[in-house]
Amino acid sequence: MIGIGTGNPEHVTIQAIRALNTVDVVFALGKGQEKADLVALRRAICERYIEGRSYRFVEAQDPERDRDPADYGGTVEAWHAARAALYEALIAAELPEEGVGAILVWGDPSLYDSTLRIVDRIEARGRLPLAVRVIPGISSVQALAASHRIALNRIGAPIHITTGRQIAGGLPPDADSIVVMLDGHPRFDHLDPDLTIYWGAYLGSADEIVLSGRLGDVAGEIGRLRTEARARHGWIMDTYLLRRGD
Ligand SMILES: C[S@@+](CC[C@H](N)C(=O)[O-])C[C@H]1O[C@@H](n2cnc3c(N)ncnc32)[C@H](O)[C@@H]1O
Repeated sequence: MIGIGTGNPEHVTIQAIRALNTVDVVFALGKGQEKADLVALRRAICERYIEGRSYRFVEAQDPERDRDPADYGGTVEAWHAARAALYEALIAAELPEEGVGAILVWGDPSLYDSTLRIVDRIEARGRLPLAVRVIPGISSVQALAASHRIALNRIGAPIHITTGRQIAGGLPPDADSIVVMLDGHPRFDHLDPDLTIYWGAYLGSADEIVLSGRLGDVAGEIGRLRTEARARHGWIMDTYLLRRGD
């Protein structure tokens, strides 16, 4: 399982390149325009870094998932089960015995990514003997901090990393540095306008957009940039840090 960073082929580490040069099959799940672009980047990474080795790139359709379900936990559970069954079938069909397969994970596998849990499920089912190794990648959170030239934490203080869904009702009261990911519909009107926001979309890629400032001053502009960029690309991925008292 190889973390590939968030859109810049130069995020790929030397450790990842070494691992890529041992693979027989690269697996990629795709669906829709967003996934098509992200699968294309995975292909480009393989073409750029795998040298003198024949490998196959196996692409399959990701199972459908309700993005706004009433029962979030149950829906995600069913989606993970469907993805595990699909990966298991692909590995069984495509990977020779003793073969090496790679799953290229966006950013880093440890952060809001289901691939580790899915591979754990496949191992737990016990039908395929797997030996799994994880190679870390640059996450969107690190890319955000680098692009804004900021440290995520204040000196000796904690960082809270969460999702748009979790802050819909307000920010955690004790946190002063809050990173928000997976926010499909950012709403800032219920938040303190004196917060500072450090926002970034398509971080690491040639299309990167960043903006920072007092939330009350820049929220409208972030909304406009999001709408315009989403219309142009057909999808958007953005992450932001909210900070109290900057
Ligand atoms: C399913 S999570 C995957 C996170 C990934 N494992 C990582 O390490 O960044 C997807 C979320 O990550 C963030 N994200 C991923 N890539 C991004 C990028 N290039 N620019 C901004 N945010 C990104 C967004 O918040 C998006 O909703």
